[in-house]
Amino acid sequence: MTDNDKNTAIADSVTERPTGFSELARRRHTVRKFTAEPVTDEQLAAVLETTSLAMTAANRQPQRWFAIRSDAARTAVEQCTTSLFNPPLYLLLAYDANQVWRNRYDGHDSGEVDSAIAGTFLSFALEEQGLASCWIGSFDRAKASRLLGLPDNLRPVALFAVGHPVPAPEPPKIRNPWMASFATL
Ligand SMILES: Cc1cc2nc3c(=O)[nH]c(=O)nc-3n(C[C@H](O)[C@H](O)[C@H](O)COP(=O)(O)O)c2cc1C
Repeated sequence: MTDNDKNTAIADSVTERPTGFSELARRRHTVRKFTAEPVTDEQLAAVLETTSLAMTAANRQPQRWFAIRSDAARTAVEQCTTSLFNPPLYLLLAYDANQVWRNRYDGHDSGEVDSAIAGTFLSFALEEQGLASCWIGSFDRAKASRLLGLPDNLRPVALFAVGHPVPAPEPPKIRNPWMASFATL
């Protein structure tokens, strides 16, 4: 097999669409290298439509998505993290603290959990569309709020580097066996 054949085989396996949740879960992986191909507004709308199906506590839907499209917003985001992967698109995920459900027993609010579920849906929706992402948790949330001019009630949770993956062999899934994190009480 020539190098060209190998690259074509890798590209084909990357663009094959997974079907069914187990396969999607096996196939999704973090991508930190993106091609220059832009993510269109149509692709973004399709992915966020699927993402909007995520469950949230009491169906309060506090998650908010921001597409970082302008140069000014991109510069602001890139000042808030060292996890820079030069993607065609960053998404910022925040939640509205005025919209969250609160647990009556301890006052704990659902913002972070609801956002984490929405972020997970995003990752799978992107994978289904042949797009890829890196969830960036390591960023200065307060600085992001300030530089992007978010109101106080909007609390940033995650940044996502989003784009088309540079074709590469699928990395191995390094996971603990499920029984290592399971007990019967
Ligand atoms: C909450 C969360 C925060 C993360 N933060 C970062 C980050 O700041 N920088 C980064 O390069 N990857 C980050 N990741 C990606 C993880 O390193 C990655 O998901 C993990 O190593 C498992 O690899 P996989 O996604 O390919 O299965 C984050 C993932 C999650 C879920």
